Amino acid sequence: MGETLENHAARVLGSIRPGVPADAALREYLVSNRTLGAVGKRSVSRAVFTYFRWINWLERGESLQKQVVKALGFQTRFERDPASVKAEALASRAVPGWLAGEMELDAGTLRQLQREPALWIRAKLGGAGAVGTALGSCDPPVLPSSLAAPGELSALRYRGAADLHKAQGFQEGAFEIQDLSSQLVGHACAPATGETWWDACAGEGGKSLHLSDLMRNKGLLWATDRSVRRISVLKRRAARAGMFNYRTAIWTGTGPAPFRTPCDGVLVDAPCSGVGTWQRNPHARWTTSIDDVRELTAVQGALLGHAARSVKPGGRLVYSVCTTTRSETASVAEGFEASHPGFEPAPLPISAAGAARLMLQSRELDANGMFVAAWKRVR
Ligand SMILES: C[S@@+](CC[C@H](N)C(=O)[O-])C[C@H]1O[C@@H](n2cnc3c(N)ncnc32)[C@H](O)[C@@H]1O
Repeated sequence: MGETLENHAARVLGSIRPGVPADAALREYLVSNRTLGAVGKRSVSRAVFTYFRWINWLERGESLQKQVVKALGFQTRFERDPASVKAEALASRAVPGWLAGEMELDAGTLRQLQREPALWIRAKLGGAGAVGTALGSCDPPVLPSSLAAPGELSALRYRGAADLHKAQGFQEGAFEIQDLSSQLVGHACAPATGETWWDACAGEGGKSLHLSDLMRNKGLLWATDRSVRRISVLKRRAARAGMFNYRTAIWTGTGPAPFRTPCDGVLVDAPCSGVGTWQRNPHARWTTSIDDVRELTAVQGALLGHAARSVKPGGRLVYSVCTTTRSETASVAEGFEASHPGFEPAPLPISAAGAARLMLQSRELDANGMFVAAWKRVR
C-alpha cells in the first residue's frame, strides 16, 4: 500500500466536515487514490469506520494516526472477547444519549453495534448455488425461529476477500450486494408474477431489482424516487441484471403517484434515520439527531398516506425502514392505521407467527436492523 494504513485513514478523517459524511469522504478519497488496490481500499474503509465505532474511547488530543491505531486495537480485542467491554460503557459511549428514549438498548444489541458488519449478497432466483460455487467463501443465512424462511431466499454471506464488483457474476448480473434484512423486505412484499407493483422510494433500486426478480421479470414494476441521480443508477443496475418489466418516474412524495395504474402492491421503503445501519456506518451515530428522527417520522407518515391511494382494493401496502426508533417504525404504523380505516394489518409472509409488523433484529440476523409492516386495502 506504500503509505501506512493510519496515514490514509487520517487523511480521510481530516476531510470529513459537516455535510460530508464518512462514506462520501471515503468514496472521494478512494476514487482519487489510484495506488490503493482492492485490499488496501477495504483496509482504509475499515480503519475509518472502526475509528467512529470507538471514538469515545480515544484521546482526542492525540494525532489521528495514533487514534486510528488504538481504535483498531479496541476492535481486535472486542472481536476476540465481546464481554470485555461492559454493556454500561457501550450504552454511554457507543451511541448518542437520545437513542435510549427511542429503543431498548440491551447488551446484545449494543455488542452487535460494535462488531464488524457482515457482507451479504443476493443471487438471482435459482442462482445461489452457482454463485456460491464460483465465488467460494459463501454461507447461507441462518434465520431465527421467529421468521418463516422464504422458499426463494437466495442470500449468501460472503466471507472472502475478493473485490466483488470485479467478479464475473456481478458484472453479468448474477448477483447483487444487498443486506440480508433488505432482502427479507422483498420477501415480505412477495410480489407474484404478472402483478403491478410500485416501489415508491426506489432509490438506486436495491429492492426494485429484487421485486422484479421475484416477479420473474413479468408484470409491471413502477420505480420512483425524488432523486434523478438515484433513478439513473437504478437504470444502470437494471440493465446489468437483465430487468425489463419496469418503468421509472420522478415522485417527490408530495402528492399522488405519477401514473394512474392501480397497484396490487406498493412498497414504501421510506427515508429514515438509518439507526439500523449504524453497525455498518458508525459515523452516522454522531451526525444523526433526535430532530432528524422527528422530521423523518412526519415524512414517512406523509409518504405512506400518498402512496396508499395507489393500492387497489385487496392490494397490499408495505412500509419498511432501516431504523429501529419507536417514533419511526411502530408510531408511524399506528398513525397510518388510525387515519386509514380502509386498510387492515396484513400478515407478513416472512413472519412465522403471521405478524403484520416485524422488527428485523441486527443481532439475530447479523445484518441491518429493519422494520417492516404490511396492510391490505379492504375498501
Ligand atoms: C431508504 S432509501 C431507498 C432505498 C432503496 N429502496 C433501496 O432498496 O435501494 C429512501 C429513498 O427515498 C427517497 N426520498 C426521500 N425523500 C423522499 C420524498 N419526500 N419523496 C420521494 N422519495 C424520497 C430518497 O431519495 C431515497 O432514495
